[in-house]
Amino acid sequence: MLYKNRLEIMHIYKSYSAQDTMDIAQAMAKQATRGDIFLLNGTMGAGKTVFAKGFALGLGISCTITSPTFTLLNIYEGTLPMYHFDLYRCQEQVSDQGFEEYFFGTGICLIEWGEYAKNILPHHNTITIQTSNNPKQENFRTIEVINK
Ligand SMILES: Nc1ncnc2c1ncn2[C@@H]1O[C@H](COP(=O)(O)OP(=O)(O)OP(=O)(O)O)[C@@H](O)[C@H]1O
Ligand SMILES: [Mg+2]
Repeated sequence: MLYKNRLEIMHIYKSYSAQDTMDIAQAMAKQATRGDIFLLNGTMGAGKTVFAKGFALGLGISCTITSPTFTLLNIYEGTLPMYHFDLYRCQEQVSDQGFEEYFFGTGICLIEWGEYAKNILPHHNTITIQTSNNPKQENFRTIEVINK
């Protein structure tokens, strides 16, 4: 798909458990390079933080990943630095928070609830995690990845 002269590559993965989501994220982290930015989309409880945990494993980060809901940003040192944002409680303009050094930095940004940051990002990949409406498929997710 060609969008604004950039090639978009889309993949859709099926996940049947939190472990599956971690495995998918872990594999993706191994392909990631400096400066990559991943917007993590999905409703509350979809699995964005689970994805971040798997991603961290792929970067060789062994400490516990907790959601940076109140602090907005947690920084981890792995084979590459990982900047894990959760902007759900971001009160001020994202552009006023001084995050540019990370968005334009040499680590990897994972951004939960990043809709408002979108406009100021130099580029980004989009991961959209969707739950199922079927109550019998409580743990089923589709993970749509758009690489730009
Ligand atoms: N296939 C799956 N993939 C990911 N998580 C799953 C899956 N099946 C069940 N879960 C469960 O769903 C929950 C996802 O929680 P998580 O904190 O990652 O959501 P979130 O998208 O980060 O929510 P929030 O918007 O509140 O930050 C976990 O309890 C996890 O065990
Ligand atoms: Mg979360």
